[in-house]
Amino acid sequence: MPESIGAESIGAETIGAETIGAETIGAETIGAETIAVLGAGIMGAGIARVFGRAGHEVRVFDVDAATATRAADSAGASAHDSVERAVDGATIVLEAAPERLELKRELIAQVEAANATAIIASNTSSIAPDALAAGMRDPSRLVIAHFFNPADAVPLVEVVPGPATPQATVDRMVALLTAAGKTVVPLAQQVEGFIANRLQAALYREAMHLVELGVASPEQVDATVTAGLGPRWALAGPFEIMDLGGLDVWTSVTDGVFPSLGDASAAPGMLRERVERGELGAKTGAGFLPRDADAATTFARRLSALIAARAAID
Ligand SMILES: NC(=O)c1ccc[n+]([C@@H]2O[C@H](COP(=O)([O-])OP(=O)(O)OC[C@H]3O[C@@H](n4cnc5c(N)ncnc54)[C@H](O)[C@@H]3O)[C@@H](O)[C@H]2O)c1
Repeated sequence: MPESIGAESIGAETIGAETIGAETIGAETIGAETIAVLGAGIMGAGIARVFGRAGHEVRVFDVDAATATRAADSAGASAHDSVERAVDGATIVLEAAPERLELKRELIAQVEAANATAIIASNTSSIAPDALAAGMRDPSRLVIAHFFNPADAVPLVEVVPGPATPQATVDRMVALLTAAGKTVVPLAQQVEGFIANRLQAALYREAMHLVELGVASPEQVDATVTAGLGPRWALAGPFEIMDLGGLDVWTSVTDGVFPSLGDASAAPGMLRERVERGELGAKTGAGFLPRDADAATTFARRLSALIAARAAID
């Protein structure tokens, strides 16, 4: 299977979009889809904008009507007052409801009852596709399309098949997302946390281990990432960094460092204790670091500027 890396392989409208590790179907083969986005919170609103900008007909449903209207207005989409009306005639349904298995299962059952053919793509961050598909009439309709917040700024989408998902469905989601300007990484199979959250979890485990050992403060660990590792990672992933540094060097580093790495198999004390005190981070104003009330908004704005700068240097 040819690997297509780079926008030149997928047509002029998709500058910057990439598909890593899968055949890319040309953007010109993507007709306008009718896409229903269910759940229009932080993620659903951004996802609706991604598809709206790509020229698809987008419909939005949220149990909170004002949330649906706000998201629809920002995406050039229509707001609907029931799941049934939103998914009627849709070719793709994008589920972005809260991360609760039973809630998602009930919502998917409503979709199946109202629409017999659309692909049902879930934006779940952590629920395994086989758990979501367990109660479905036709589990082959389910696929994971995992966006990153803010969904209309961060290029990456992980596409994860369930045990019954046909390759054609994965290919169709990859083509749709690539044509919408996203960088798509299709996984060969489901794994807890997919790729991105596993990598984050490995780093965060060691970050908290270092603080618990008394080696460094949270501020110092964060500075090590933002001033050192992070800028490099915007341009080169771990395998490219290892190649650039020399695999002999990285054999010595991994031999020397792996034995002393933290190996916690559950949330470390410094995380769990804060949650028990109600210190949930930016949303409560207290976490590891002091936070302004508008920290999330400021971060989203700065991240969008950084991603634009990153795209401009290629
Ligand atoms: N926030 C993130 O950084 C992030 C990143 C990637 C994936 N996700 C995943 O995306 C999904 C949504 O997360 P979010 O952060 O947007 O949550 P959110 O709470 O901001 O939004 C969820 C929305 O769903 C609505 N809702 C609740 N019940 C519903 C129902 N039965 N039908 C339709 N809408 C319903 C809520 O009113 C709310 O507007 C979750 O599965 C989450 O794990 C979140």
